[in-house]
Amino acid sequence: MKPLIAGNWKMNHGPQEGKTFFEEIKEIPGKKADVVIFPPFVTIAYVKDLARERGIFLGAQNLYWRPHGAFTGEISAKMLVEARVDFVLVGHSERRNILGEDDELINLKLKTALDYGLKPILCVGENLQEREEGRAMEKIKFQLDADLSGIHPSRVIIAYEPIWAIGTGKNATPEQAEEVHAFIKQYLGEVKVLYGGSVKPGNAFSLLSQPHIDGVLVGGASLKPDSFYDIIQSGIKAFEVKDSGPLF
Ligand code: 13P
Repeated sequence: MKPLIAGNWKMNHGPQEGKTFFEEIKEIPGKKADVVIFPPFVTIAYVKDLARERGIFLGAQNLYWRPHGAFTGEISAKMLVEARVDFVLVGHSERRNILGEDDELINLKLKTALDYGLKPILCVGENLQEREEGRAMEKIKFQLDADLSGIHPSRVIIAYEPIWAIGTGKNATPEQAEEVHAFIKQYLGEVKVLYGGSVKPGNAFSLLSQPHIDGVLVGGASLKPDSFYDIIQSGIKAFEVKDSGPLF
């Protein structure tokens, strides 16, 4: 088993900074992790050769569900396929909360991504109030039901990203994350689940050591080649330990 280590650059790293990142990042040892970076759209074409040379997949941070037409500012799945990206993020909390995306739109985007052979990563997660009121699982179940309507869950990767942990420096504890991941897998069946929210070199190993955490979706700490590489290494180590089974 390999961890999936994903870096979401959000609105950071234009073409020049993106190229520098890929020039500087060290080679991933023995292909023991699947690694994917989600640069801004404008950066993708500039880094695609460097990414391929380093065995790193590329993804897009968003897509629109129509194939083409009068949708100013949007990018279609067809265009992403032509630009040679493999993955696409759908339903990130920043798109839900800042850009106003609802579950119906997210469902259409997921279906479109799958129709075009892209691998979608669906982001779900509760806000602070929902966690404090003990409604985290209820919220996640609601999002999964609505977003995956008419879609076999095994076709999608899920990222559990508690909103209160995103960009706050306050990650979910490994136990909190594990509890939600176990719930998602029990609810959906065979599905890969990543954790996202203030993942850093210092906490990646303990998060990735949890039995139901298959990888991480990293924001801020994916912007620097060294810190992202450290997280990749933590994933490789954690999975070696998990694969070797219990010591006693
Ligand atoms: P941070 O790692 O910066 O908290 O961001 C997490 C995230 O939103 C990844 O998609």
